[in-house]
Amino acid sequence: MKLADNKATLSFSNGSPSVDLPVYSGSIGPDVIDIRKLYAQTGMFTYDPGFLSTAATQSAITYIDGDKGELLYRGYPIEQLATTSNYLDVCHLLLKGELPNSTESADFHKLVTNHTMVNEQMQFFLRGFRRDAHPMAILTGLVGGLSAFYHDSTDINNPKHREIAAIRMIAKMPTLVAMSYKYGVGQPYMYPQNNLSYAGNFLRMMFGTPCEEYKVSPVLERALDRIFILHADHEQNASTSTVRLCGSSGTNPFAAIAAGVACLWGPAHGGANEACLNMLEDIQKMGGVAKVGQFMEQVKDKSSNVKLMGFGHRVYKNYDPRAKLMQETCNEVLAEMGLENDPLFKLAKALEKIALEDDYFVQRKLYPNVDFYSGIVQRAIGIPVNLFTGIFALARTVGWIAQLNEMIGDPEYKIGRPRQLYSGSVQRDVQPIDQR
Ligand code: SDX
Repeated sequence: MKLADNKATLSFSNGSPSVDLPVYSGSIGPDVIDIRKLYAQTGMFTYDPGFLSTAATQSAITYIDGDKGELLYRGYPIEQLATTSNYLDVCHLLLKGELPNSTESADFHKLVTNHTMVNEQMQFFLRGFRRDAHPMAILTGLVGGLSAFYHDSTDINNPKHREIAAIRMIAKMPTLVAMSYKYGVGQPYMYPQNNLSYAGNFLRMMFGTPCEEYKVSPVLERALDRIFILHADHEQNASTSTVRLCGSSGTNPFAAIAAGVACLWGPAHGGANEACLNMLEDIQKMGGVAKVGQFMEQVKDKSSNVKLMGFGHRVYKNYDPRAKLMQETCNEVLAEMGLENDPLFKLAKALEKIALEDDYFVQRKLYPNVDFYSGIVQRAIGIPVNLFTGIFALARTVGWIAQLNEMIGDPEYKIGRPRQLYSGSVQRDVQPIDQR
């Protein structure tokens, strides 16, 4: 970041001395006002619950222009990466800052492939869960549990440890997600197959059985790889900020990523894809497209607490570029599966059309986000609804790790420790219980 030819002056109406605050510029996007010395200079904190106007870090990984609906990974538009690259090359880009050449790509793919197995003991963790446990509950436990197996890569301050931990987590997440699915359906775990692609291997671990050869569908393989790319990273979202704050204590990378998995599970965040599919199924049961108007009235009635899941975004005040690409993938997969007339896809498109023309949504700049169509395409691939967020976690693992490593690699980083505006009781003395 560089000092802007501008500065901010904070003045107070009560005559307190004004304070000059430096302004910094990045390469693109909003400038920042550096308030790091504000408390020392004024004895006051800034107040920004939900971080609506707060840059918690500088980063060179992902850039979002919410007004234009633009998303760049290391400067490359998501539209180009999703249509010309593959997920593991995008992982290389996010982790190392550059797309690989053909040799680097082959080496990186081989490195990840050679780490896809998990320790045989991991399967005994799963046995402790009920068979009907939510896969995200299982995954939160399994990812945290990885730190019990890899003591040779838990020192977050050792670059070599960070490197191998990154590869292990990217490689093992598909295996762990597939194991949490197989455990739920009572089928045997499928070991990774090194001659398959990252997405193809995941499909086989999910839907293959030891009883017969599993044939990977190239259309589903490409669709899943694109879904992974679209979910790979997204600036300082809630789960990434969780990983950074958790990692800032120096804890091991597996524990920090497990914290990200837990945060992503929430329906306001990564859990929205599961909630969106359930919402579409509920509207379908109510009567489908004919009932959309009635449902939208509920959404606009604040007292109903009903939200249009898969819509709205803290940053995008325009169409989420990932939603557009996800809708295209929907079309491809539904056509491949002979589901062009899938009622839920038709319902989603009707819902989107009505929402985009409705003043309530237009005024609030509410557009479809990445979660609106992702559930429909995952359902068409055969992925159960309660595993949608697990797929999101699988894909976002590389983003979490890249952001964590960027933070730890910054010599200026400190443990994150926000302050507060205290509104509780002033000091008082404990009274004996018979006088309370
Ligand atoms: C992800 O941050 C990221 O980058 C996240 C993510 C990533 O890749 O990491 O993009 C992934 O989490 C996408 C978002 C998935 N969540 C959902 O689809 C859940 C539904 N959306 C909302 O819960 C909401 O839009 C949020 C949480 C996504 C954003 O909330 P904000 O920024 O806090 O906005 P807000 O709640 O203040 O909403 C502004 C207004 C409010 O109305 P008013 O009080 O101004 O009258 O819009 C309304 C809200 O009530 N509103 C909605 C709505 N979203 C916002 N009304 C109906 N349906 C919705 N979905």
